[in-house]
Amino acid sequence: MAKRVPFVCGNWKMHHGVEATRKQVRALVEGIGRLQGKVEVAVAPVATTLFAACEVARGSPVKIAAQNVHWAEKGAFTGEWSVAHLVELGVTHAICGHSERRALFGDDDTTVPKRVRAALDGGLVPIACVGESLKEREESRTAQVVGRQTEAILEIVKPDEVERLVLAYEPVWAIGTGKNATPTQAQEVHAQIRALLAKRFGAKAELVRLQYGGSVKPDNAAELLREPDVDGALVGGASLEAPSLLAIGEGGMQRA
Ligand code: PGA
Repeated sequence: MAKRVPFVCGNWKMHHGVEATRKQVRALVEGIGRLQGKVEVAVAPVATTLFAACEVARGSPVKIAAQNVHWAEKGAFTGEWSVAHLVELGVTHAICGHSERRALFGDDDTTVPKRVRAALDGGLVPIACVGESLKEREESRTAQVVGRQTEAILEIVKPDEVERLVLAYEPVWAIGTGKNATPTQAQEVHAQIRALLAKRFGAKAELVRLQYGGSVKPDNAAELLREPDVDGALVGGASLEAPSLLAIGEGGMQRA
């Protein structure tokens, strides 16, 4: 099996303002210590704080991600920002198609791939999110829904760039609920995603990192990241305080 560097990313959603962002990014930079070179660590702060976050993280191993990105280069798109705007700041990653964007802001299998495409074209690492709702799981449609969302994304990825892609499996029922998927549930879906990757990209599927997201905490990270296809975590609530995100990163050390 190819060696994939474990990757944990905090998603700060609409929380920390500039001051708190500076403080928490600084704490990540100062605390990353023994994770350095073994586990990749990123955070996705509120858009208005990205400039400050990049300033504090500059020159350190801590990466800064955007929570969203528009696919156009520029133009009349009030309230949006482009890949170029992010790159200019020093942002290196962009979350695309988070379930909150899908549920509340109209993101779907047409727009999410466009965001991923733009990120890849502009040199950002896309963290593309997929995941089923509670109703879909209860109706035994998890494989179908995750399969459809994943295929829509993979369709626009070229073989020579697939290893830059990060896919995050985030079951909607596990997000912010305190009820994480069990390691077995997570692995089952991650294996399905890996198989879809393999069908399209052959051996290169082994190079793609698959994050799990949904109520990841320091005390469940290690068991989730022990699963063969769980290569990292996308973390909401438990990422807001730097020591907690770093403790989750420790859970990835066993894979490093
Ligand atoms: P949570 O959020 O860790 O608070 O469940 C995960 C996410 O939305 O990425």
